[in-house]
Amino acid sequence: MSIMEKHKIIEKNATLLLALSFVVVTVGGIVEIAPLFWLQNTIEKVEGVRPYSPLELAGRQVYIREGCYVCHSQMIRPMRDEVERYGHYSLAAESMYDRPFQWGSKRTGPDLARVGGRYSDAWHVDHMYDPQALVPESVMPKYPWLAETELDFDHIGDHLRTNAALGVPYTDEQIANAKVHVVAQVNPDHEAVDDLLANYPKAQVRNFDGQPQITELDALIAYLQMLGTLVDFSTYEASAEANLR
Ligand code: HEC
Repeated sequence: MSIMEKHKIIEKNATLLLALSFVVVTVGGIVEIAPLFWLQNTIEKVEGVRPYSPLELAGRQVYIREGCYVCHSQMIRPMRDEVERYGHYSLAAESMYDRPFQWGSKRTGPDLARVGGRYSDAWHVDHMYDPQALVPESVMPKYPWLAETELDFDHIGDHLRTNAALGVPYTDEQIANAKVHVVAQVNPDHEAVDDLLANYPKAQVRNFDGQPQITELDALIAYLQMLGTLVDFSTYEASAEANLR
């Protein structure tokens, strides 16, 4: 009996065809689904990664509200052209506290995963106010209202609490102090700066937009300036690579 004839048996017997299809789909399903049960094991903890400070979190909210993700991704792929342009490829751990994640799939503008520290605060102020003033051919919209709108952080504690409910390890104390931490991060002379830094190591403390009031632009720049800066790549070693030695 040729292969074709054997196959004919299956094709002519609906029950047998269904039963065998089921077996095939089951095997395929298990192969795809089973690894997800052990996903925790595949996400390594990386030194330096911490939840966002309240001001950074507020800035991230502005970023989401304004739809920046429509044009900007935050995921550097492990390919040479990307790594040479943007820096070390993104680690899963670097977005482990992102609710929701901002990986994105559209790059009308550059990837922002490591934009932190690349430009001065003043550059960001000018760029948000009028991108074309700095990059004449830019298609990025202007966001002049961010510098003029005071940041509404009355509910920042609730924002932290919501993140905590989703698994971000904010403590009750951090939630209670969220408002104070916002004020401290834009004011280096504030008495809570040490506490802020103890809770959020590497948080950058300064008046980001140069204006006396705390604006949405302060929060947004605080967020942009910390992107990709938490992990120290001069000492970081991917464990898989380390294991090979
Ligand atoms: C319509 C698409 C679009 C939107 C929406 C957009 N951008 Fe951009 N962005 C661009 C383009 C194009 C560039 C590159 C030219 C330039 O620097 O203006 C850019 C550049 C940037 C840069 C400089 C990146 C680098 O490495 O040079 C930053 C930072 C930035 N955008 C932040 C933002 C933020 C924050 C928002 C939301 C408030 C935003 N963008 C919204 C298109 C966009």
